[in-house]
Amino acid sequence: MSAEPSPQGPPVSRGAEASLRKVDWWGFPALLKERDQKAYRPKALDERVRRERTRNEVRLLVDARRLGVRTPIVYDVDLAKYRITLEELPGPTLRQVLEDPNVPPEDEVAAVRSFGRALGLLHAGSIAHGDLTSSNVLLPDGPHGAPAFLDLSMGTRSPGLEELGIDLHLVEEDLKALSGRSEALVRAFHEGYAEGNPHGARDVRARAKLIRGRVRYA
Ligand SMILES: Nc1ncnc2c1ncn2[C@@H]1O[C@H](COP(=O)(O)OP(=O)(O)O)[C@@H](O)[C@H]1O
Ligand SMILES: [Mg+2]
Repeated sequence: MSAEPSPQGPPVSRGAEASLRKVDWWGFPALLKERDQKAYRPKALDERVRRERTRNEVRLLVDARRLGVRTPIVYDVDLAKYRITLEELPGPTLRQVLEDPNVPPEDEVAAVRSFGRALGLLHAGSIAHGDLTSSNVLLPDGPHGAPAFLDLSMGTRSPGLEELGIDLHLVEEDLKALSGRSEALVRAFHEGYAEGNPHGARDVRARAKLIRGRVRYA
């Protein structure tokens, strides 16, 4: 039997697609993520898109955990309501860490390196994230602990080189935009990535470079 969690207070986050509210899941702090209706899509299509993204997100969150890549535990799913109940993880997002002027450079480098390693493991396990920005990465154990990935609804199972390259390209862009020390950070990220994905790193980096060129001259 699945309990209906009752949301407490206003949403903690309302993105383009989903809202998240704090809930209590049998005594555990949790978040209820609900995909909102989009009026610009025909109703039948809208329902299908919301159901597919909900299903995809759950599947990939669980698959990633099996690879040893941290993601929030999925406590419950309600496909009819496009809802997922997720473990609420503590900690800042990677973006918050990189934007905080009080975080020492060595902590930034450590965080980005372990982020790279985790993404490498995910890719080596044949999952592409699909929406990889530093807001979709949490550091529940601080900058020296393993990161957790969020928001896998646009991810792909058994991705091609293109999807993997896009993940890497988005990270590079994000790191360059966020920090004054971006060169050192991009280097640390790639070192970590090569540890996590030793066999694939070269090809994925080469594809990311191609994508960067394409974007620039588009
Ligand atoms: N399991 C979680 N634990 C803690 N914070 C979370 C969790 N899931 C999401 N968040 C917070 O909510 C924000 C939005 O969640 P996300 O799943 O990325 O939804 P959206 O699709 O709206 O981007 C995240 O950037 C993060 O700050
Ligand atoms: Mg997000």
